[in-house]
Amino acid sequence: MESKTLKLKELYVVNEITKILTGEYTFEKSLMEVLKILYSYMGVEHSFIAVKDGKSVKIKSFFGSVLNKPVAFRKGEGITGRVFKRGTPVVIPTVKNSELFINKTGIGEILTENHYLVAVPVRVGGEIEGVLVTFREFEDTESVEKFLETLSIIGNLLGLFFKLHEKLEREREEWEEEKKLLTRELQEKYSLHGIIGRSKAIRQLIDLIEKVSKTDSTLLLLGESGTGKSLIAKTIHYESPRKDKPFVTVNCAAIPGELLEAELFGYEKGAFTGAYTSKKGKFELANGGTIFLDEIGDMPVNLQAKLLRVLQDKELERLGSEKTIKVDVRIIAATNKDLRKLVEERKFREDLYYRLNVIPIHVPPLRERREDIPLLIEHFLEEFNEKYQKRVYLTKEAMQILLEYDYPGNVRELANIVERIVILNEGKVTPRDLPKYLKKKKIKEKGNLQKFIEETEKERIIEALEKTGYVKSRAAKLLGYTLRQLDYRIKKYGIEIKKF
Ligand SMILES: Nc1ncnc2c1ncn2[C@@H]1O[C@H](COP(=O)(O)OP(=O)(O)OP(=O)(O)O)[C@@H](O)[C@H]1O
Ligand SMILES: [Mg+2]
Repeated sequence: MESKTLKLKELYVVNEITKILTGEYTFEKSLMEVLKILYSYMGVEHSFIAVKDGKSVKIKSFFGSVLNKPVAFRKGEGITGRVFKRGTPVVIPTVKNSELFINKTGIGEILTENHYLVAVPVRVGGEIEGVLVTFREFEDTESVEKFLETLSIIGNLLGLFFKLHEKLEREREEWEEEKKLLTRELQEKYSLHGIIGRSKAIRQLIDLIEKVSKTDSTLLLLGESGTGKSLIAKTIHYESPRKDKPFVTVNCAAIPGELLEAELFGYEKGAFTGAYTSKKGKFELANGGTIFLDEIGDMPVNLQAKLLRVLQDKELERLGSEKTIKVDVRIIAATNKDLRKLVEERKFREDLYYRLNVIPIHVPPLRERREDIPLLIEHFLEEFNEKYQKRVYLTKEAMQILLEYDYPGNVRELANIVERIVILNEGKVTPRDLPKYLKKKKIKEKGNLQKFIEETEKERIIEALEKTGYVKSRAAKLLGYTLRQLDYRIKKYGIEIKKF
């Protein structure tokens, strides 16, 4: 009787192994961890797990010494091959001297007379999918029996694990396949230094970027926040003949007016309180290269005049100095504001506006190029999986939700959403794992308000009916309708009344 009940230690081992097999390790690593547990708690000095591969079982994980070559056993070959063929466990005392032992792994050399071989099949349903083989010494026969019992349980757990792994692999493969379909076309053709997209809008943009990169002309990037203006400015610089010279970014909105002037033009010692040394401005630092003036719409008007001078004459003076400095800088400006409107409001100099607006580049919002969304999701999934060392992937349904969302914050918002998903999840991501606000129905197109209202109403009615077990009078009360009003709407929306 005693041997039929598992002792605390055995239970502990089984529990530890379950934890490993349900954790986040890769397949091979999980198997190795199981063998390590057998060594640490059960005195199994040598062991291996062989996994079915066609008509043989192949050793996937080997513990206790080094296996120099791949080893497989055909059905019926050696002891492992027999367990694979028959599906029954075996116990062989002094295995070293056994006639059945063919020592294909070479482990025989390090075994003693006291080593037993205990092997159990790994079953998945009715099929034998592998064999777990152990070598250890025993004190008495009772402990042999108990060990065999524990090992059989572990064999069964491995069976479940194999099955789960197979299912996950299949899902992953399907996902990979889909991903390939989604991204194939694009990638060779329309990605320029990390600007992802295959929509017509992006392709035209990339063509334009390639053209203007070759020139020295001033550029003005226009577009909503998060559409990729900063990325494009950088790309243009690195595609231009100036690429080996500095690319300097100044965010005109982030720096207060007085400081911005010093930042851009530099200053001489003593130019103002606190100017203990002289300092080069960003224009000087960018000499030979490109300066990117982000949020140009926020530049104070008095500074705009000085900027105009740099644009026209390519020269400037540091604060507190009379000396004129020549600079050779290409200027790229960007804004998410309506500059023309700022001109009308006299917040932006008209002459500067025309100077900057020689080649305006419109960066379209994501909602005007929705076909790029799947590529961007894929791109950021890869990027953040790499960054956080994860293997997060989306089910079709979860992907669908992300495809339908409207991204008011454009690519930046999409990137943030994907990053959060990768951080917060492991492996497969289903709709349940996604934040609620993504799932809310959105008004798809302007002018479709009526449809949206109707849809919302229909949903509310169904919800009320569900709540009240499809008792219409109660649902009507809950909604604040008369029964007739409710009946009318049920008919109008074709809502199915479930009878219980
Ligand atoms: N087409 C794209 N392909 C790949 N990544 C993109 C693309 N567009 C934008 N991104 C990424 O999205 C994020 C936001 O882009 P970026 O900072 O360039 O936007 P922005 O227009 O400059 O926004 P803001 O006006 O707020 O400064 C960045 O991480 C950027 O790398
Ligand atoms: Mg930016």
